[in-house]
Amino acid sequence: MQPTTQTQFPVREHFLGFGSPLIEEPEIDEVVDTLRSGWLVTGPKVARFQEMFKQYTGAQHALAVNSCTAALHLSLIVAGIKPGDEVITTPMTFCATVNTILHAGATPVFADCDRDTMLIDPQRIEDAITSRTRAILPVHLCGRPCKMDAIVDIARRHNLIVIEDAAHAIESVYKGGKIGTIGDLTAFSFYATKNVATGEGGMVTTNNSEFADKIRIYSLHGMSKDAWKRFSREGYKHYQVVFPGFKYNMMDVQAAIGLHQLARVEQNLRKRNRIWQRYNEAFAELPLGLPAPDECETVHARHLYTLMVDKERCGMSRDEFMEHLHAAKIGTGVHYIGVHLHPYYQERYGYKPNDYPNAAWISERTVSIPLSPKLTDVDVEDVVETVRALPFKSRARAHATAG
Ligand SMILES: Cc1ncc(COP(=O)(O)O)c(C=O)c1O
Repeated sequence: MQPTTQTQFPVREHFLGFGSPLIEEPEIDEVVDTLRSGWLVTGPKVARFQEMFKQYTGAQHALAVNSCTAALHLSLIVAGIKPGDEVITTPMTFCATVNTILHAGATPVFADCDRDTMLIDPQRIEDAITSRTRAILPVHLCGRPCKMDAIVDIARRHNLIVIEDAAHAIESVYKGGKIGTIGDLTAFSFYATKNVATGEGGMVTTNNSEFADKIRIYSLHGMSKDAWKRFSREGYKHYQVVFPGFKYNMMDVQAAIGLHQLARVEQNLRKRNRIWQRYNEAFAELPLGLPAPDECETVHARHLYTLMVDKERCGMSRDEFMEHLHAAKIGTGVHYIGVHLHPYYQERYGYKPNDYPNAAWISERTVSIPLSPKLTDVDVEDVVETVRALPFKSRARAHATAG
């Protein structure tokens, strides 16, 4: 890195993009093989990818779709969520979590998150339950599993469905249970920045055969037979439309990438862990808030490494922090600005920022720095050096959270 006259810290030669996927030769060869096969849409590779995901999570069913948004929407629909129902979720999530509740015709009800873990607080879930509550939708933000023992217990006591948003949590484990096997339905994302990336893509896992059958049908127009079976060598089969379904099926081109991405996910997690530890130790003396320590008996998927930049302590806002990193050619992300702070939700439900004070607090301070198996040691040290060279007001630690 070269120091510049404009800034007090070194600047990289090339921009380090935030969340760029690590695509290797096996994925490229598999996609080429798919293209040469002439079978681009839902076919044998989707079937293989589903089987592989089922084995990986230990769930009884894995249904591939074209996004996690589709996975959430279908999960809500097959769980019978309908207009008039309430679904409790966290405001500290991506908008898709909440939009799908609206698409199912139901009302999202927020339960604030914990300030340190950024995860939905089970006590607030309990407080938010009404006679109209039908489901709880926890989000394993950044790859950190939610307190599933408490959430499942609340669901059992109140006869609620649990649908998990595991967009960040492919590798996560909660107290011996792999994420994907705990709630009634779990939705995963294979969006380009995710720990398994297929460009766009998603998966639902469930141990409920009725839900699985319905998802298979709903994801392809509501047709009783999927396309590749209709046109297979066994001969043409008529289809019947049994529900008004959606066009949410995954393509073989996507599954071709996913097969090899998933094969390397645990190896990549070891690299993600090394980067995580390096950041924790490198930033330990800075006035930044670091990720909370892991809860016992959990595996964190290390999807996002988030820092809290408090203007008072740091002498710079989160946005100024991001500008500094950008000037040093390091990409960053914000995960997230609370959903209750976005105009649509504010206008529709009249939310005020402090209705969910922890989510509002995090929204102002959170920033994610690069964390990917694609990072070289030099990339990681560039991030470390740049953050350590920032003009913080003081060097005092924000709070002792490094795990
Ligand atoms: C927490 C969360 N939920 C849902 C989604 C939606 O995933 P997809 O882009 O696969 O639809 C995302 C995507 O970023 C996410 O981060």
